[in-house]
Amino acid sequence: MKCGRGALVVLEGVDRAGKTTQCKELVRELQRSGRAAEMMRFPDRTTMIGQLISSYLEKKSDLEDHTVHLLFSANRWELVPEMKQKLEKGISLVVDRYAFSGVAFTSAKPGFGLEWCKSPDVGLPKPDLVMFLQLPPSVAAARGEFGTERYETSVFQQAVQSKFDQLMEDPTVNWQVIDAARSVEEVHKDIKQFAMNTINAVEKQPIGDLWK
Ligand code: ADP
Ligand code: TYD
Repeated sequence: MKCGRGALVVLEGVDRAGKTTQCKELVRELQRSGRAAEMMRFPDRTTMIGQLISSYLEKKSDLEDHTVHLLFSANRWELVPEMKQKLEKGISLVVDRYAFSGVAFTSAKPGFGLEWCKSPDVGLPKPDLVMFLQLPPSVAAARGEFGTERYETSVFQQAVQSKFDQLMEDPTVNWQVIDAARSVEEVHKDIKQFAMNTINAVEKQPIGDLWK
Protein backbone atom coordinates (compact mmCIF):
# COMPACT_ATOMS: atom_id res chain seq x y z
CA MET A 1 0.00 0.00 0.00
CA LYS A 2 1.28 3.47 -0.89
CA CYS A 3 2.17 5.53 2.19
CA GLY A 4 0.50 8.89 2.78
CA ARG A 5 2.25 12.22 2.77
CA GLY A 6 4.20 13.65 5.68
CA ALA A 7 2.90 16.50 7.82
CA LEU A 8 4.25 20.05 7.87
CA VAL A 9 4.59 20.98 11.53
CA VAL A 10 5.85 24.44 12.54
CA LEU A 11 7.06 25.71 15.90
CA GLU A 12 6.84 29.43 16.53
CA GLY A 13 7.29 31.53 19.64
CA VAL A 14 9.24 34.30 21.27
CA ASP A 15 12.98 34.21 21.72
CA ARG A 16 14.18 31.46 24.11
CA ALA A 17 10.73 29.83 24.24
CA GLY A 18 12.44 26.52 23.47
CA LYS A 19 11.65 26.15 19.75
CA THR A 20 14.98 24.66 18.73
CA THR A 21 15.11 22.34 21.76
CA GLN A 22 11.58 21.09 21.07
CA CYS A 23 12.04 20.70 17.30
CA LYS A 24 15.04 18.44 17.92
CA GLU A 25 13.20 16.44 20.59
CA LEU A 26 10.20 15.96 18.33
CA VAL A 27 12.25 14.77 15.36
CA ARG A 28 14.13 12.34 17.60
CA GLU A 29 10.88 11.03 19.05
CA LEU A 30 9.21 10.62 15.66
CA GLN A 31 12.24 8.77 14.31
CA ARG A 32 12.35 6.57 17.41
CA SER A 33 8.75 5.60 16.79
CA GLY A 34 9.58 4.59 13.22
CA ARG A 35 8.27 7.65 11.38
CA ALA A 36 10.21 9.52 8.73
CA ALA A 37 10.87 13.04 10.01
CA GLU A 38 13.38 15.82 9.40
CA MET A 39 14.03 19.20 10.95
CA MET A 40 14.27 22.45 9.01
CA ARG A 41 14.76 26.01 10.22
CA PHE A 42 14.11 29.47 8.83
CA PRO A 43 16.09 31.46 8.09
CA ASP A 44 18.13 28.70 6.44
CA ARG A 45 21.49 30.45 6.60
CA THR A 46 23.24 27.92 4.33
CA THR A 47 21.91 29.23 0.99
CA MET A 48 23.15 32.35 -0.84
CA ILE A 49 20.04 34.27 0.22
CA GLY A 50 20.44 32.86 3.75
CA GLN A 51 23.99 34.22 3.89
CA LEU A 52 22.73 37.74 3.08
CA ILE A 53 20.16 37.38 5.87
CA SER A 54 22.73 36.02 8.31
CA SER A 55 25.10 38.90 7.69
CA TYR A 56 22.19 41.34 8.27
CA LEU A 57 21.19 39.62 11.53
CA GLU A 58 24.78 39.64 12.74
CA LYS A 59 24.84 43.40 11.96
CA LYS A 60 27.72 42.90 9.54
CA SER A 61 25.60 44.53 6.84
CA ASP A 62 22.59 46.81 6.62
CA LEU A 63 19.62 46.15 4.38
CA GLU A 64 16.54 48.25 3.70
CA ASP A 65 13.55 46.89 5.71
CA HIS A 66 11.31 45.91 2.74
CA THR A 67 14.28 44.28 1.07
CA VAL A 68 15.17 42.09 4.02
CA HIS A 69 11.52 41.08 4.44
CA LEU A 70 11.43 39.89 0.84
CA LEU A 71 14.74 38.06 1.30
CA PHE A 72 13.34 36.14 4.31
CA SER A 73 10.36 35.17 2.15
CA ALA A 74 12.57 34.24 -0.82
CA ASN A 75 14.59 32.04 1.56
CA ARG A 76 11.38 30.07 2.24
CA TRP A 77 10.33 29.92 -1.42
CA GLU A 78 13.71 28.62 -2.55
CA LEU A 79 13.20 25.57 -0.30
CA VAL A 80 9.60 24.85 -1.37
CA PRO A 81 10.44 22.29 -4.10
CA GLU A 82 12.54 20.31 -1.60
CA MET A 83 9.86 20.59 1.10
CA LYS A 84 7.12 19.36 -1.24
CA GLN A 85 9.25 16.45 -2.47
CA LYS A 86 9.90 15.34 1.10
CA LEU A 87 6.29 15.70 2.23
CA GLU A 88 5.11 13.72 -0.79
CA LYS A 89 7.63 10.97 0.01
CA GLY A 90 6.01 10.63 3.43
CA ILE A 91 8.62 12.57 5.41
CA SER A 92 7.17 14.85 8.09
CA LEU A 93 8.93 18.20 8.41
CA VAL A 94 9.39 19.86 11.78
CA VAL A 95 10.16 23.51 11.10
CA ASP A 96 11.77 26.01 13.49
CA ARG A 97 10.07 29.35 12.50
CA TYR A 98 8.18 29.99 9.24
CA ALA A 99 6.19 32.77 7.56
CA PHE A 100 4.58 33.75 10.89
CA SER A 101 7.95 34.91 12.23
CA GLY A 102 8.45 36.70 8.93
CA VAL A 103 5.25 38.68 9.36
CA ALA A 104 5.55 39.21 13.13
CA PHE A 105 9.11 40.58 12.98
CA THR A 106 8.65 42.93 10.02
CA SER A 107 5.23 44.19 11.08
CA ALA A 108 6.70 45.06 14.49
CA LYS A 109 8.72 47.73 12.65
CA PRO A 110 7.09 51.15 12.14
CA GLY A 111 5.20 51.60 8.87
CA PHE A 112 4.58 47.93 8.04
CA GLY A 113 1.01 46.58 7.88
CA LEU A 114 0.17 42.92 8.45
CA GLU A 115 -1.34 42.45 4.98
CA TRP A 116 1.69 43.80 3.11
CA CYS A 117 3.93 41.60 5.23
CA LYS A 118 1.87 38.48 4.52
CA SER A 119 1.63 38.93 0.76
CA PRO A 120 5.01 37.50 -0.41
CA ASP A 121 4.34 34.32 1.61
CA VAL A 122 0.81 33.76 0.26
CA GLY A 123 0.71 30.31 -1.35
CA LEU A 124 3.61 28.72 0.55
CA PRO A 125 2.94 25.13 1.65
CA LYS A 126 0.44 25.54 4.46
CA PRO A 127 1.51 24.08 7.80
CA ASP A 128 -0.81 21.34 9.01
CA LEU A 129 -0.10 22.48 12.56
CA VAL A 130 1.54 25.58 14.07
CA MET A 131 2.47 25.27 17.73
CA PHE A 132 3.11 28.60 19.43
CA LEU A 133 5.39 28.25 22.43
CA GLN A 134 4.09 30.84 24.85
CA LEU A 135 6.50 32.14 27.47
CA PRO A 136 6.10 35.16 29.79
CA PRO A 137 8.96 37.67 29.34
CA SER A 138 10.08 37.18 32.97
CA VAL A 139 10.57 33.43 32.41
CA ALA A 140 12.36 34.07 29.11
CA ALA A 141 14.68 36.49 30.92
CA ALA A 142 15.56 33.79 33.46
CA ARG A 143 16.77 31.58 30.56
CA GLY A 144 19.69 33.91 29.91
CA GLU A 145 20.76 37.20 28.44
CA PHE A 146 19.72 38.34 24.99
CA GLY A 147 22.28 37.67 22.30
CA THR A 148 23.85 40.39 20.21
CA GLU A 149 21.94 39.83 16.96
CA ARG A 150 19.49 42.31 15.50
CA TYR A 151 15.98 42.17 17.08
CA GLU A 152 17.32 40.77 20.38
CA THR A 153 15.92 43.43 22.72
CA SER A 154 12.98 43.14 25.11
CA VAL A 155 11.12 46.15 23.64
CA PHE A 156 11.20 44.72 20.12
CA GLN A 157 10.34 41.20 21.33
CA GLN A 158 7.21 42.58 23.05
CA ALA A 159 6.10 44.22 19.81
CA VAL A 160 6.72 40.90 18.02
CA GLN A 161 4.60 39.04 20.60
CA SER A 162 1.65 41.36 20.01
CA LYS A 163 1.91 40.73 16.24
CA PHE A 164 1.94 36.97 16.88
CA ASP A 165 -1.24 37.50 18.98
CA GLN A 166 -2.88 39.13 15.96
CA LEU A 167 -1.77 36.33 13.63
CA MET A 168 -3.16 33.72 16.02
CA GLU A 169 -6.65 35.18 15.59
CA ASP A 170 -6.69 33.74 12.05
CA PRO A 171 -8.94 30.64 12.11
CA THR A 172 -7.66 29.40 8.71
CA VAL A 173 -4.40 28.36 10.41
CA ASN A 174 -4.32 25.37 12.78
CA TRP A 175 -2.76 27.10 15.82
CA GLN A 176 -2.09 25.37 19.13
CA VAL A 177 -0.76 27.47 21.98
CA ILE A 178 1.66 25.52 24.16
CA ASP A 179 2.59 26.60 27.70
CA ALA A 180 6.38 26.71 27.30
CA ALA A 181 7.08 27.67 30.92
CA ARG A 182 7.23 24.01 31.98
CA SER A 183 10.06 21.48 31.89
CA VAL A 184 11.47 20.35 28.52
CA GLU A 185 9.86 16.92 29.08
CA GLU A 186 6.40 18.28 29.91
CA VAL A 187 6.38 20.61 26.92
CA HIS A 188 7.62 17.79 24.69
CA LYS A 189 4.80 15.49 25.81
CA ASP A 190 2.15 17.96 24.58
CA ILE A 191 4.00 18.74 21.36
CA LYS A 192 4.43 15.06 20.58
CA GLN A 193 0.70 14.41 21.09
CA PHE A 194 -0.41 17.27 18.83
CA ALA A 195 2.15 16.32 16.18
CA MET A 196 1.23 12.61 16.17
CA ASN A 197 -2.47 13.41 15.87
CA THR A 198 -1.77 15.74 12.96
CA ILE A 199 0.54 13.30 11.17
CA ASN A 200 -2.18 10.64 11.32
CA ALA A 201 -4.95 13.04 10.29
CA VAL A 202 -3.35 14.56 7.16
CA GLU A 203 -1.85 11.43 5.55
CA LYS A 204 -4.44 11.35 2.79
CA GLN A 205 -5.06 15.09 2.48
CA PRO A 206 -3.48 17.37 -0.13
CA ILE A 207 -0.96 19.99 1.02
CA GLY A 208 -2.74 23.34 1.43
CA ASP A 209 -1.75 26.86 0.34
CA LEU A 210 -0.97 29.33 3.12
CA TRP A 211 -3.19 32.44 3.41
CA LYS A 212 -5.05 31.67 0.14
P1 ADP B 1 14.50 29.21 20.98
O1 ADP B 1 14.89 28.34 19.81
O2 ADP B 1 13.00 29.37 21.10
O3 ADP B 1 15.20 30.53 21.03
P2 ADP B 1 16.02 27.32 22.59
O4 ADP B 1 15.49 25.95 22.36
O5 ADP B 1 17.29 27.70 21.89
O6 ADP B 1 14.90 28.43 22.31
O7 ADP B 1 16.19 27.49 24.17
C1 ADP B 1 16.67 28.71 24.75
C2 ADP B 1 17.39 28.38 26.07
O8 ADP B 1 16.43 27.93 27.03
C3 ADP B 1 18.42 27.27 25.96
O9 ADP B 1 19.47 27.57 26.85
C4 ADP B 1 17.67 26.02 26.39
O10 ADP B 1 18.52 25.06 26.92
C5 ADP B 1 16.73 26.59 27.43
N1 ADP B 1 15.44 25.88 27.51
C6 ADP B 1 14.72 25.36 26.48
N2 ADP B 1 13.57 24.80 26.93
C7 ADP B 1 13.55 24.99 28.27
C8 ADP B 1 12.62 24.66 29.31
N3 ADP B 1 11.47 24.02 29.07
N4 ADP B 1 12.92 25.01 30.57
C9 ADP B 1 14.08 25.67 30.85
N5 ADP B 1 15.00 26.01 29.93
C10 ADP B 1 14.75 25.69 28.65
P1 TYD C 1 16.92 32.29 14.27
O1 TYD C 1 18.01 31.91 13.34
O2 TYD C 1 15.83 31.31 14.52
O3 TYD C 1 17.59 32.74 15.59
P2 TYD C 1 17.25 32.42 17.08
O4 TYD C 1 17.66 31.01 17.31
O5 TYD C 1 18.09 33.43 17.81
O6 TYD C 1 15.79 32.63 17.26
O7 TYD C 1 16.16 33.59 13.76
C1 TYD C 1 16.85 34.71 13.43
C2 TYD C 1 16.07 35.96 13.59
O8 TYD C 1 15.37 36.29 12.38
C3 TYD C 1 15.06 36.00 14.71
O9 TYD C 1 15.24 37.20 15.43
C4 TYD C 1 13.72 36.05 13.98
C5 TYD C 1 14.05 36.72 12.69
N1 TYD C 1 13.20 36.36 11.52
C6 TYD C 1 12.66 37.38 10.74
O10 TYD C 1 12.82 38.58 11.03
N2 TYD C 1 11.94 37.06 9.63
C7 TYD C 1 11.73 35.76 9.28
O11 TYD C 1 11.07 35.49 8.25
C8 TYD C 1 12.28 34.71 10.11
C9 TYD C 1 12.09 33.28 9.73
C10 TYD C 1 13.03 35.06 11.23
